Amino acid sequence: MSRTHVPVLAGELIDLTAPAPGETAVDCTFGAGGHARLVADRLGPAGTLVCIDRDPAAEERFEEFAREAPCETRFLRLDYADGLALLRDEGLGADIVYLDLGVSSIQVDTRERGFSYSYDAPLDMRMDPEQDLDARTIVNEWEERRLARLFRRYGEDPNGQRIAREIVRRRKRGSIDTTGELVAAIEAALPAAARRSFGGGHPAKRVFQAVRIAVNSELESLERALPLAWELLRADGRLAAISFHSLEDRRVKRFLAERARGCVCPPDFPVCVCGRTPEAELLTARALAPTPGEVAQNPRAKSGRLRGARKLPAGEAA
Ligand SMILES: C[S@@+](CC[C@H](N)C(=O)[O-])C[C@H]1O[C@@H](n2cnc3c(N)ncnc32)[C@H](O)[C@@H]1O
Repeated sequence: MSRTHVPVLAGELIDLTAPAPGETAVDCTFGAGGHARLVADRLGPAGTLVCIDRDPAAEERFEEFAREAPCETRFLRLDYADGLALLRDEGLGADIVYLDLGVSSIQVDTRERGFSYSYDAPLDMRMDPEQDLDARTIVNEWEERRLARLFRRYGEDPNGQRIAREIVRRRKRGSIDTTGELVAAIEAALPAAARRSFGGGHPAKRVFQAVRIAVNSELESLERALPLAWELLRADGRLAAISFHSLEDRRVKRFLAERARGCVCPPDFPVCVCGRTPEAELLTARALAPTPGEVAQNPRAKSGRLRGARKLPAGEAA
């Protein structure tokens, strides 16, 4: 069981955003501080790094990081969307905002937090252990139709309906309290052919992803955070996001593409009447993926996708 988190696409993230001495950066997902350390080194003594994470264990790691950080630091234990709103209300101007989405390896590998289908543990999956909603509540209380929709939408699991039916059948006999019991229900729901056809992936992977996303309102937080992060950026500021599945990546891609778009008048209009000019220059025409070397060293990096954009100063066209 690992108690560290290896930062994903770290070199690419630093190259893309080029943190410079004296700048102000916001790391919305401090985690184990892997990216934060690299950024802090670049910001230097005149720079400021605001770190956000909703997990109290991340706050403890931040205390240690802050003691040695070469720049000014601050921590907000909040949902990053709330953290960004607070910083906006304080009038902070940021040069860079980072989002490294999802859970850290430390969270996944801390058995009792119930994020992993590899260990038997209480069904929990809360990044913020003080929030009320946990995985056990979703699995035991949501109606079959709602569960099926969750597994299909957030897990992109074609067997979502079958799995939801099996969960509801089993919980009539007694509640499903552990990750092991959830894995058993998923496996029982799948025909043998489906169990074999997961391309090496675990058959519970998609359902666990779906439940985790719902427990932590991950997509809602991301949707709220992106415009707030953009608002916080000064001219020439950079926004960089690392996603780990298509539901996240699609949202980041759409958001950045929308900012980078200019005139939206129909092509047969002789002159532009919308007056829209691009606000962003895309720094990644396509999402950057980890190299095979990185994936060999850190298999969890495999699905990481990095996108970024620069905020154009008013009047500058991309
Ligand atoms: C992938 S890890 C970040 C790892 C970090 N970049 C590093 O190099 O160590 C994601 C972290 O973001 C936090 N997180 C995820 N969603 C969050 C949200 N909506 N608000 C605040 N923190 C969040 C998780 O608790 C976790 O610690």
